[in-house]
Amino acid sequence: TDQIEIHKGLAGVVVDTTDISSVNQETNSLLYRGYPVQELAAKCSFEQVAYLLWHGELPTADELEGFEAVERGQRALRPEVQALIEQTPVSGHPMDVLRTAVSLLGALETRFPDDERSDYEKSVRLFAQLPAIVAYDQRHRHGMDPVPAREDLDYASNFLWMTFGELPDQTVIDAFRVSLVLYAEHSFNASTFTARVVASTLSDLHSGVVAAIGALKGPLHGGANEAVMATFSEIGSADRAEAWLEDALASKKKIMGFGHRVYKNGDSRVPTMKAALDSLVDYYNRPDLLELYTALEQAMGDAKNIKPNLDYPSGPAYHLMGFDTPTFTPIFAAARVTGWTAHFIEQQAHNSLIRPLSQYTGPAQRGVRPTGRGL
Ligand code: CMC
Repeated sequence: TDQIEIHKGLAGVVVDTTDISSVNQETNSLLYRGYPVQELAAKCSFEQVAYLLWHGELPTADELEGFEAVERGQRALRPEVQALIEQTPVSGHPMDVLRTAVSLLGALETRFPDDERSDYEKSVRLFAQLPAIVAYDQRHRHGMDPVPAREDLDYASNFLWMTFGELPDQTVIDAFRVSLVLYAEHSFNASTFTARVVASTLSDLHSGVVAAIGALKGPLHGGANEAVMATFSEIGSADRAEAWLEDALASKKKIMGFGHRVYKNGDSRVPTMKAALDSLVDYYNRPDLLELYTALEQAMGDAKNIKPNLDYPSGPAYHLMGFDTPTFTPIFAAARVTGWTAHFIEQQAHNSLIRPLSQYTGPAQRGVRPTGRGL
């Protein structure tokens, strides 16, 4: 048994190749199809980035126009999904609503073959529909009616429009778009790998996305952006950050929004998202929030030398934009559905069933001798 090497958490294990994105620890970079994510965030709409992830190249003007027309034409909240949101008790988490809604959308798909072309079409449809679900779920929890999608708006603006019923300042739209670009893809993270496991059994695309949403929900993954805000509310103000952290670490708590399985010297996406957060802090005039952000980051650096991940700046950014805290992870899901589906399609294009081994550590073989009532 001592020759068996166990890769707990698959840490450091390369399980397949991918053309979609690369995370480089040494250079602290993240590239989508070869493009640095920071440059994409500065120069591209979320639609352009989604197209890039699916097709491997940025769209030409004509391709973008065609893609946008298809996406914009499929944004409307489906009546079956609207009914689902209205029938689910508000005690249910928005991630549960989203997971169930995607499952329902899968059941509503017309049954065409699960080939690459229809999987791409299903992916664009999901991409177009998730904002309507996330937006109406938040509104419903406040007793408000859904706001119909607007086809004259880009993806990021329309998402905000459907959530708030008004268009915010361009500063807010830009920060939101940047967050979506940064959240879109991150190679074999837990939720994407989950989607690939489902793909590898030749199951359908919606099943892969439902499973991925389940994986994303956990606080060690996407649930962290929501948890960061809970931490901020618990701490209250910058002057209390250090003492709070000392207590939290003494009781062996994981501090949400810090640390990363791959990046050990800081998450490559954080500076871009932090700049977006800074612009929101200025716009909403909330220096107190920035002080708390900085104080906790500094205290965590001093105590453990652990740096923030993307969820650390995106949590407070979504809060400032007016999203309810439990809506943060569903926004992450709406963005990541691009990466999940690109990986689902890639997995099936070069498939090998994902089925690892385990080392058994339970009781040795023994005979069955029922002690209670036998058969
Ligand atoms: N708070 C306190 N200690 C931490 C943290 C943290 N956030 N992250 C790592 N550590 C410690 C950990 O306790 C361990 O210490 P020791 O060696 O003394 O036991 C050491 O650092 C190494 O950590 P690890 O848990 O072995 O590292 P990992 O690669 O398994 O964990 C992680 C990565 C993301 C699960 C972990 O850093 C964590 O739990 N972070 C908090 C949750 C979070 O923010 N998740 C978001 C991840 S990135 C974006 C996303 O997916 O949404």
